[in-house]
Amino acid sequence: MKRITTVDAMQRFADRTRSQDCTLALVPTMGALHEGHLALVEDALDRADRVVVSIFVNPTQFGPEEDYDTYPRDLERDEELLSARGVDAVFAPSVDEMYPNADDALDGPVTWVTVEQLTDSLCGAYRDGHFRGVTTVVSKLFHACKPHVAVFGTKDAQQLVVLRRMVEDLLLDVDIVGVETVREEDGLAASSRNAYLSPDERRQAVVLSRAVRAAEQRIRQGEQQVEGVVEAMNDALSRAPDGRVQYADVVDARTLQPIDRLDPGDDVLAAVAVFFGDTRLIDNAFISVPSED
Ligand code: PAJ
Repeated sequence: MKRITTVDAMQRFADRTRSQDCTLALVPTMGALHEGHLALVEDALDRADRVVVSIFVNPTQFGPEEDYDTYPRDLERDEELLSARGVDAVFAPSVDEMYPNADDALDGPVTWVTVEQLTDSLCGAYRDGHFRGVTTVVSKLFHACKPHVAVFGTKDAQQLVVLRRMVEDLLLDVDIVGVETVREEDGLAASSRNAYLSPDERRQAVVLSRAVRAAEQRIRQGEQQVEGVVEAMNDALSRAPDGRVQYADVVDARTLQPIDRLDPGDDVLAAVAVFFGDTRLIDNAFISVPSED
């Protein structure tokens, strides 16, 4: 497996792959790989002739109070996991490589990719500038890696909806694939941030997946008011004494805008974000409101 660290070498690898008539899949990650990331890798391996996994902790998507400096980094371990699965290349650029011109007289990057409205709700309402950082870096990764297909997790549902829309609006020639959330035995979604939890917090963190399941159940039972569903989610979340709920919400699955009523045939997204100490965890599910027959 190749380690590629420059944009130039990455583009040459992509050009070579394309000139051999091979398809190329990209799995963008920030490293500290776990079973969730590896499920995306397996999906990519099934889908394309060559697979590149990018490992880049992207500074522009972290807020000033967030965990950029302490985000877990272990490139060698990540590479071992990927090489064992038959990944062709890891793209692991430095910050300077991805954000050149940082030392000019201007203050930070001046070119951004911004998706509006879809980023106003859920995580976007609380993480100022986060999605602008994600859409900008993913655009850059697409230009560097030139994939035919890129694989993302539905675990970060808002990110997936935002990136699909970015690709559509900017006419990018990349297929976006979403892969189901991989969970631990008790239901907690696998996440690099789970490692920050104390054993007690880890036990309590099961409430996130229970809240999402409670939303699914309530909707399946015919609840027509979002308020009723949110109440069921908050009820489940209240069983974690050390959890601080940032949001528990149900929004339109396509626009991510708030809704009040649930009508048969609607597609919605139920989503939660909860802090345990400084550790912020999320979970969510896309749910179809059953028809009345
Ligand atoms: P990161 O948090 O490393 O996640 C990389 C990919 O793994 C994302 O598509 C995410 O949705 C997926 N993922 C994480 N946990 C998962 C789980 N339990 N099951 C399935 N998939 C899971 O998301 C990012 O990095 C960054 O924002 C990135 C897109 C790389 C841009 O910097």
